[in-house]
Amino acid sequence: MRYILLVFVLSVAAVVAIAGKRGDISRQPPIELFPDMDRQPKLRPQTETRNLFWQDNLSSRLPVAGTVARNSPFELTPANTGRVPGTTNFVAINPMPITHQFLARGRDRYQISCAPCHGAVGDGKGVLSQYGMLPANLHDASVKKIVQQPDGELFHTISNGKGVMAGYASTIAIEDRWAIVAYVRVLQLSRLGALADIPAEHQAALMK
Ligand code: HEC
Repeated sequence: MRYILLVFVLSVAAVVAIAGKRGDISRQPPIELFPDMDRQPKLRPQTETRNLFWQDNLSSRLPVAGTVARNSPFELTPANTGRVPGTTNFVAINPMPITHQFLARGRDRYQISCAPCHGAVGDGKGVLSQYGMLPANLHDASVKKIVQQPDGELFHTISNGKGVMAGYASTIAIEDRWAIVAYVRVLQLSRLGALADIPAEHQAALMK
């Protein structure tokens, strides 16, 4: 009974000494009871080491050829993304030069990749529409405003998909996607164009 006060004082001192320092910032290295995995042998990524495994002595492999970094020149080129660099706005006009050959390529690719759903003329009545799928009518100016969308947005839809439509970035090359965008415009004009859109000297020939 005589020592109980002493034991009490000593244990209070011990608790304060150990727990009382918690949360303090110190320049001294901490006392490590369990070092866990604080220090372990390892290689820094992509540095030269005396690595015995790879012939070039690099600690890790270089990125695969063709790897594209985020914010690289690739991403800052509108033709690759359909967007104005540094913004989320879509480019208004197809950045590729539009030639007869380019449009023919677009029709070819459209008929392979899009027509099964959207129909050969773009009215959304492709063969898959008979099996429960509801592809958009690409001429629809009123409801979905695809006609008014900037070219970059069409490119984005083809690349990444939209709603229930899947993206085709992995199967249609970038230039071919722009060719399809141009051909979709052809389809839209074939429906929605007016006689007045045609140069005056050619109008008479069409009316024959
Ligand atoms: C497997 C069927 C399928 C194929 C193939 C397909 N689409 Fe679609 N597409 C759809 C469906 C379904 C929708 C409606 C998506 C929704 O509203 O959820 C759609 C929507 C769209 C839209 C409207 C997007 C919007 O802003 O509302 C565009 C434009 C479009 N497709 C273009 C294309 C083009 C160009 C191709 C060819 C590269 C293509 N699609 C291939 C099924 C398809």
